Amino acid sequence: MDAILTGRRIIMKLSLLLILLTALPSAVHAQDAVKRDDHQMHRLHNDPKAYLDALEDPKRDAYQKPHGVIHALNLKSGEVIADIGAGSGYFTFHLARHVGDKGKVYAVDVSPEMILHVNRRIRDQKANNVVAVLSDPDDPLLPDRSVNRFFFSDSWHHIENQSKYLSLMKRMLKPGGEIVMIDFHKKELPVGPPMQMKIAREDLIKQLDSNGYRLAKEHSFLPYQYFLVFVPR
Ligand SMILES: C[S@@+](CC[C@H](N)C(=O)[O-])C[C@H]1O[C@@H](n2cnc3c(N)ncnc32)[C@H](O)[C@@H]1O
Repeated sequence: MDAILTGRRIIMKLSLLLILLTALPSAVHAQDAVKRDDHQMHRLHNDPKAYLDALEDPKRDAYQKPHGVIHALNLKSGEVIADIGAGSGYFTFHLARHVGDKGKVYAVDVSPEMILHVNRRIRDQKANNVVAVLSDPDDPLLPDRSVNRFFFSDSWHHIENQSKYLSLMKRMLKPGGEIVMIDFHKKELPVGPPMQMKIAREDLIKQLDSNGYRLAKEHSFLPYQYFLVFVPR
């Protein structure tokens, strides 16, 4: 009986590994090499260790270009950034170094496992300007007029009730604040989420426009993603 159960566990682990290799940003396979359904995606997100490893895979840097992104943001000491869907903190800790001791980075995520991981990193790195926030799926739970920039990397397509989120962010932004959105182009790519989860650049611009934001800036050095900056109108 034990041998059968162990065998099943090994098969389940091998299946999950196969899905991860095809589905996560670090994967090198074509994204449609394996057709993923919602059930598979759900299982993927249910293996936090593998998800964290994939988000932190050094191979990801080649296309995600974290240093280029941080440079383009031209961060100022003392800024408050909300890293929404912060995940492992891949961008959070870069952002934190650039806003300095007087600044703050809220690492916001709905996943308790991601928040635990970020809290460990805060303690280990003595990153006292990072605050991890376990949020609601449709509310970042931040104070009004508290944020200079909302930062979304590969996370806007996960947000539930996006119109509500856009209206909440307007309240939470400080005067002169911005929303930064980095996400995958809606076309066949060697990395990224399945096609049905992607939001086309043009659709995102229309969505923000109809919710009271205008496109203020665009950076075009990322090979697979758009990098847009919006401000309230
Ligand atoms: C693809 S990961 C991106 C992580 C990180 N931004 C990065 O670039 O490495 C998406 C993250 O969004 C989180 N997430 C999903 N739905 C969310 C929501 N409604 N609000 C906040 N975070 C969410 C997930 O838990 C996951 O950590």
